[in-house]
Amino acid sequence: MKPKVFVTRRIPAPGPAILAEYCEVDMFLGEYPPRKEEISKGVKGKDALLCLLTDKIDSDIMAAAPNLKVISSFSVGYEHIDVGEATRRGIYVTYTPGVLTEATADFAWALLMAAARRVVEADKVVKTGNWKIAWGPTILLGDDVYGKTLGVVGLGRIGTAVAKRAKGFNIRTIYFDVVRAPLEKEKELDIAYVPLEKLLEESDFVSVHVPLMKETYHLFNEAQFRQMKRTAFLINTSRGAVIDEKALAKALQEKLIAGAALDVFEKEPTDPDNPFVNMDNVVLAPHVASATKEARSKMSEVSAKNLVAVLKGEMPLFLVNKEVLNIRPLAQVKTI
Ligand code: GLV
Repeated sequence: MKPKVFVTRRIPAPGPAILAEYCEVDMFLGEYPPRKEEISKGVKGKDALLCLLTDKIDSDIMAAAPNLKVISSFSVGYEHIDVGEATRRGIYVTYTPGVLTEATADFAWALLMAAARRVVEADKVVKTGNWKIAWGPTILLGDDVYGKTLGVVGLGRIGTAVAKRAKGFNIRTIYFDVVRAPLEKEKELDIAYVPLEKLLEESDFVSVHVPLMKETYHLFNEAQFRQMKRTAFLINTSRGAVIDEKALAKALQEKLIAGAALDVFEKEPTDPDNPFVNMDNVVLAPHVASATKEARSKMSEVSAKNLVAVLKGEMPLFLVNKEVLNIRPLAQVKTI
């Protein structure tokens, strides 16, 4: 008998076919993320769960599925999963880093450029019939990107890919991370390590690439905005809660900083009364930094392969909770 897997949303190819080769697949077909009761119901009696970042996988969900051996997330972030609880229960947690790095870095740059050069406002002017003067010396003036200073907060995979792209813009790149990168990497990327305060003081663009954890919750607060240049832009493609949104809205209103570009929010989707919605100096996107056909197809493949590997009793490509190997060795979760 094939092991049973619950997939919390329709995912693109090739994941479904990879799963179907080895498992009996039950896929949630709703357009919206399943509610907690729907995940509990779906996961009941299943050996594996393939979930998205919108699904909160807590102890109640795990308790509803005593046979669960693996939770495979179709994402690089995994703060939606209670990993400690999964480890205690001997459940393998896997994720999809690497395959969305370049797409996300491209998008961080797209946001940076859009904010600095007012691309969204410009588009609106043309489409709404408000382009009245053929060309004007001061129409829609933005800020130079070339030759400026970029501050990368978090030099992980995505932060590194963002820094790499800065070279072509003749940008000076500085970075902050809790762990300093090896000197060879700093040299190769032509970047300098600085404390966060210095990064905020010197950067024209601050791009955030830290995971959401206790330590990074509201890492950007009123104090940080006060340290930034009044001409600076903040770009966030990591997680909304890394930024205190109320403080950011206030900072933008009070012109403590020049603008922001946000792909992620404390509450997703945003409410219609979200203060950023009516700000021209803010570019917004609905959490789509990794949304390329190529990246999503790779995420599908890797999340399915991770899941199947665990059920085969093999090491998955990307395991979050390595400690689980001692709690329930792979041989004990082998069902294929
Ligand atoms: C996207 O935000 C992801 O975590 O994959």
